[in-house]
Amino acid sequence: KNKIILDCDPGHDDAIAMMLAYGNPNIDLLAVTTVVGNQTLEKVSRNALAVAEIAKIKGIPFAKGADRPLIREIEVAPSIHGDSGLDGPILPTPSQSFSEKHAVQLIIDLIMSHPEKTITLVPTGGLTNIALAARLEPRIIDRVKQVVLMGGGYHVGNWSAVAEFNIKIDPEAAHIVFNAGWKVVMVGLDLTHQALATPEIVKRIAALDTKPAQFVVELLEFFGKMYKQSQGFNYPPVHDPCAVAYVIDPTIIETKQVPVNIELTGTHTLGMTVADFRYPPKPCNTYVATKLDHKRFWDLVIEAIRNLN
Ligand code: BDR
Ligand code: CA
Repeated sequence: KNKIILDCDPGHDDAIAMMLAYGNPNIDLLAVTTVVGNQTLEKVSRNALAVAEIAKIKGIPFAKGADRPLIREIEVAPSIHGDSGLDGPILPTPSQSFSEKHAVQLIIDLIMSHPEKTITLVPTGGLTNIALAARLEPRIIDRVKQVVLMGGGYHVGNWSAVAEFNIKIDPEAAHIVFNAGWKVVMVGLDLTHQALATPEIVKRIAALDTKPAQFVVELLEFFGKMYKQSQGFNYPPVHDPCAVAYVIDPTIIETKQVPVNIELTGTHTLGMTVADFRYPPKPCNTYVATKLDHKRFWDLVIEAIRNLN
């Protein structure tokens, strides 16, 4: 089993990433940690517990992390995720409570108390918590197996012409994470724009006819509407579960090993993930995701939702 910590900002696609991680038999979800992003920390944290309620995610800690980026002002995404951060379905009142630990401390404690190279970090929001953890306890850098993150894009942006939301909202944190020295797999927009929830996919989820499936259908309806209105997509790209899918089965996603750095000073390019595809290949710890097996990806997600009941 692959042990992961999911650091997220739910968020419609984060919610589906949670369900994929908990419902898939090859993942051992150690904790869910939250970070400001799609909405304020309070909202995304409450959303995480609401998803836990629907998906019956029990027996693991939920911890709240950073309530603002390292340096920049808070920037949230109501144009995609609505005022709650998870608009669409009715959100249940959570029955669980948060860990007393700060997310950053929980991440460190889990990594330091497990055998080396057994935990994969899966960030699907801004990288504030992960950057703070690396700074507070640098020994975690050699101890984690890899960081598989949703963020960036080597040819695509969505929060500016060239920058993706998760990187753009805390570029300094991203800079720390990409340069720390651990293996980073960047599952960016180039990949996640292939993970479209087509009507056929939504139909298959609806056919499961369970409470979690119905919840996902309502999430995707809202997400699809917002993506059409604000970004001109026919069907919504379901970004965050792609990072979890890579951990479950790396053969679903093709990657290329290339140096990646984060633009921190550009007038028009702040938060850009600059990937160097030139020949000859340079040694580096960074990989970018290039190609998704759409069918096998959705098979995994649908199977996981089925398992949640
Ligand atoms: C990313 O930004 C967020 O809105 C989504 O949850 C995803 O993590 C896509 O750019
Ligand atoms: Ca997210």
